[in-house]
Amino acid sequence: MSSIQSQFLDLTAHHSRYDAIDPQTTLKGSATDKVVFISGASRGIGQATAMAFAEAGARAVYLTARSAQALEKTQSLVQKANPQTQCAYSICDVTEARQVEAAVKDCVAQFGGVDVADANAGYLGPWVKIGDSDPEGWWRNWQVNMQGSYHVIRYTLPHLIHSAKAGNANGRSGGHLILVSSVGAQFVMPGASDYQTSKHAINRLCEFVQSDHDEDGIKCFAIHPGGVATDIGHNMPAHMHEYLVDDPDLAACFAVWLSAGGADWAKGRYLSANWDVSELSGLESEILRDDLLVNRLRAKL
Ligand SMILES: NC(=O)c1ccc[n+]([C@@H]2O[C@H](COP(=O)([O-])OP(=O)(O)OC[C@H]3O[C@@H](n4cnc5c(N)ncnc54)[C@H](OP(=O)(O)O)[C@@H]3O)[C@@H](O)[C@H]2O)c1
Repeated sequence: MSSIQSQFLDLTAHHSRYDAIDPQTTLKGSATDKVVFISGASRGIGQATAMAFAEAGARAVYLTARSAQALEKTQSLVQKANPQTQCAYSICDVTEARQVEAAVKDCVAQFGGVDVADANAGYLGPWVKIGDSDPEGWWRNWQVNMQGSYHVIRYTLPHLIHSAKAGNANGRSGGHLILVSSVGAQFVMPGASDYQTSKHAINRLCEFVQSDHDEDGIKCFAIHPGGVATDIGHNMPAHMHEYLVDDPDLAACFAVWLSAGGADWAKGRYLSANWDVSELSGLESEILRDDLLVNRLRAKL
């Protein structure tokens, strides 16, 4: 069993936005000229992320999910957050490659590219032991979380690479890819094998994206968004609800900070939105020296 204590850096923990990651103060204007593609933007953390990028001055935010009505609501919130930010949405099931391909194509046709991709759409089914699990329900976690993230990566990558190269040319950091993982990626909690293995795989996928495309300038991160009282959060058993103490806005602002180049040195790694970013930045040399915040086999006695 993994110990919960061993999965956290000993840093000040935040539960809502604070100055260093605030798109209305420190990060104001940090997303100017950027086009942001978000999956799972119809509610919860994805919706908050769309608004935070608008507050940071994004040129355009492109929203995707399966419910048109809820996406319209996010669109109106984005327009309220910043009337200058353009916003469009399309219906897109992340488990369908052709739908994700079409959504990215539409985003590029409307706004000219993708500078930041946030693979946020997720699914968490009921917690049941493997021997009692429904095979289709079990696999659904992998389809939405892992296959869905892969599809977003696969179709946004060419545009993110273009953004990274253009950024290099004009001295700005571009080509950021955020994969919404979970602290559960490292846990072994009875009944959560489907969700927690899918998030563990996302952390590995993040490393592969970085390894395959580091030379293209991509900066990929697997993030824990905090414990948030969303539909997915409430799908956990009741005894876990006491951990749902973070604002959706925390992960949203953390994504804006990552996309502003705040942690480009940590590309390819797992980071928690709870961690104080100034203290995290202070650990850069130790994290790189000891190759921390990646999943590895514990093989030493
Ligand atoms: N809440 C937490 O405490 C917590 C903790 C760790 C990690 N996370 C992760 O954070 C991410 C966001 O979750 P949330 O907490 O904000 O939950 P949420 O409010 O339930 O939002 C989930 C989003 O994913 C979308 N979605 C689900 N299935 C989809 C599909 N097949 N295709 C496209 N979109 C789909 C939903 O939109 P539609 O239903 O309209 O399609 C919705 O916008 C997830 O990856 C989740 O695993 C959350």
